[in-house]
Amino acid sequence: MDIRKVGVVGAGQMGNGIAHVMAVAGYDVLLNDINQEALDKGVGVIKSNMDRMVSRDKMTAEDRDAALSRITTTLDLPELGATDLVVESATERETVKQAIFEDLVPHLGPDTILTSNTSSISITRLASRTDRPEKFMGFHFMNPVPVMQLVELIRGIATDKPTYDACLAVVENLGKTAASSEDFPAFIVNRILMPMINEAVYTLYEGVGSVISIDTSMKLGTNHPMGPLELADFIGLDTCLAIMNVLHDGLADTKYRPCPLLTKYVEAGWLGRKTGRGFYDYRGEEPVPTR
Ligand code: CAA
Repeated sequence: MDIRKVGVVGAGQMGNGIAHVMAVAGYDVLLNDINQEALDKGVGVIKSNMDRMVSRDKMTAEDRDAALSRITTTLDLPELGATDLVVESATERETVKQAIFEDLVPHLGPDTILTSNTSSISITRLASRTDRPEKFMGFHFMNPVPVMQLVELIRGIATDKPTYDACLAVVENLGKTAASSEDFPAFIVNRILMPMINEAVYTLYEGVGSVISIDTSMKLGTNHPMGPLELADFIGLDTCLAIMNVLHDGLADTKYRPCPLLTKYVEAGWLGRKTGRGFYDYRGEEPVPTR
């Protein structure tokens, strides 16, 4: 399977990062979103991230211009039917993802591989709603995409070997490392990471430590680049809660019970960096703990 043209659905935090690394690796990218504002914002983020790489001598200006010229945008989802590989990176809600695949399927070429960047939803279930479960798999990038080395590759129950091998070759072309995961709730990274973040929120909820003492303990005590509460704000507290719910529902074990304090932050709309407030308040010059 020769992959040259990649369609990316969703120009948000993950989608613009995926478009960025695909274009840098030489793929032609067609980036889609539901409104022009989101597309313009996504392309703006890609430009500024590439400019930063140029200013730090991690990329030449010519390579940046060539990569940017490989990215085109469209509001018309069916146009992605003409690509070789689609990476769906829309909102982490199953109904949204299903609707995207349903709209796209009638326009797909026979060989197009469909993938989802979902962080926790069943690949097998998403695949079963398409016409090609054997050409469907999970392609899970980490945030920030241009920086993080890992891509989780998740096979659904029907995914065939040529599809897996084609996606693995793409990961290698990106200069990243793949880890293979079976299709169980939240796969590998989030199966391990989210219970740790949830436990950090319980540690705060039960008064064992403050925001600062919890983050300092994990940063300096275990050499994590960010403390768990800072990382939760970075990922988005709504995403963290959604993943805990997928673990809780999918594995039916009380050890995955989302912390009530995490739920309360989400109910308040304090979703982390993207809304200006979460376990820290980002509205001033320096982040200030909210508890
Ligand atoms: N886009 C592109 N590049 C970025 C970036 C972004 N959003 N954020 C930072 N960078 C680059 C910087 O330009 C910098 O590049 P240089 O080395 O060329 O200077 C480099 O990354 C390091 O950045 P900084 O010096 O500004 O900051 P830092 O040293 O504190 O690193 C970090 C920032 C890489 C985000 C680091 O804090 C880190 O690794 N944090 C943990 C991130 C993590 O765990 N991500 C996984 C989340 S889980 C997930 O994504 C899965 C899921 O489904 C929820």
